[in-house]
Amino acid sequence: MSTEPRGHWKSRFGFILAAAGGAVGLGNIWRFPYIVGENGGSAFLIVYLLLILFLGLPVLIGEVLLGKASQRDPVGAFKELDHPKSPWQTIGFMGVLAAFVILSFYSVVAGWCIEFLWKAVSGAFGPGNSPDSVKQIFGELTGSPVLQSWYHGIFMVMTVGIVFAGVQKGLQRWCEILMPALLIILVLLMVFSLSQKGAGEGLKFLLKPDFSKLSPKVILDAMGQCFFSLSLGMGAMLTYGSYLRKEDGVVSAAAWVVAMDTAIALLAGFVIFPIVFSFNVEPGAGPGLVFVTLPAAFQQMPAGTIVSIGFFGLLLAAALTSAISLLEVITAYFVDEFKMPRHMASIMFGVVCFLIGVGCAYSDKYFGFLDNLASNYLLPLGALFISLFVGWKLKPEIAKAEFEGTVYARLFGIWLICVRVVAPVLIALVFLNATGLFAKLFGEGS
Ligand code: TRP
Repeated sequence: MSTEPRGHWKSRFGFILAAAGGAVGLGNIWRFPYIVGENGGSAFLIVYLLLILFLGLPVLIGEVLLGKASQRDPVGAFKELDHPKSPWQTIGFMGVLAAFVILSFYSVVAGWCIEFLWKAVSGAFGPGNSPDSVKQIFGELTGSPVLQSWYHGIFMVMTVGIVFAGVQKGLQRWCEILMPALLIILVLLMVFSLSQKGAGEGLKFLLKPDFSKLSPKVILDAMGQCFFSLSLGMGAMLTYGSYLRKEDGVVSAAAWVVAMDTAIALLAGFVIFPIVFSFNVEPGAGPGLVFVTLPAAFQQMPAGTIVSIGFFGLLLAAALTSAISLLEVITAYFVDEFKMPRHMASIMFGVVCFLIGVGCAYSDKYFGFLDNLASNYLLPLGALFISLFVGWKLKPEIAKAEFEGTVYARLFGIWLICVRVVAPVLIALVFLNATGLFAKLFGEGS
């Protein structure tokens, strides 16, 4: 526990911007389109949107509520709201573990953004270059573990530098510029995308329901993406909530964060898929999808170089604000619970994440393993226990007070059912489904 008086957001709006800034990142622009592409498009999208509404939003409200009610870190929150030896604090430990895993591979992809920003500045994505040159740039990067590790290291130094100095406060101002700028550039790109010859096919891929593509894996991936994108299930949003003042309402703030995060992901989808079909890229191309499609489009634009610099610059900044929130969870935990000096904690765990992440530069399998472990297992498991705690352990009056007197008053009952029953059951079912248990029981071959 820190002895300093706890800082607070200046307003509810400050919280929304900061939380949305932490949520919006590579998850929306890099991960969302490629996961959509790998899972066949529209069917995934429908499942994803349903999960955001019935799983993401209620759990987000619950997590922020835990922070606000306890005014503590993710481990301390459960001690405060239950008792000092509460077994529920394991949720907090699991969150710290998830932060290690996510930051490690996140930083590798953010490193790709640095290389692409660099190439953009040197004019590689301006008019007159061919789409093949983009594939070559990406191929050379991912073919070189040393180059990737180098950029991964640079990004980690940037992240540690900010957490080390503890200047997140200043970064909130950044988010005020960053988020609108990102929105504007995505809308501009979407206009360009939708004017391409493959636009119709791209839209069809995203919007025309094809439930034959639905499978346990699609649903598990959708759930993982839901938690990853909203930064849920590991206490990051709890931490943000702990800086809320008494008078700031949780419910509408959470709804805003979800709306912004989902809007940016959808925009990214509407930018990428028309290009995918216009330039004959494989929609299931995997983690490289954004990096091989977008630059090929930039090359066709009149001001391609400037647009590409703007895009990768913004993407890098968005990645940085998310990475900070991850390292902050780790740092705050070791500072609060072990009285470790802040400087030491941020550097030490930055180095640890760097080392865990380097493996990603050498092996795609290892990369996929870390991502899958965190997104599809650690986060949903965290969310499962968070919703159980909020639904059954937390005094209902605390939650009820957040709904009463607002336009959401009538939704309290629905919310309570969501965190008590819907979320835990849904997560458990998706898990069981993914293990193939149902298929065995019912003899289906999906
Ligand atoms: N949500 C961020 C993104 O979409 C990534 C992220 C930041 C995150 N903090 C997190 C994911 C905490 C899970 C948990 O890029």
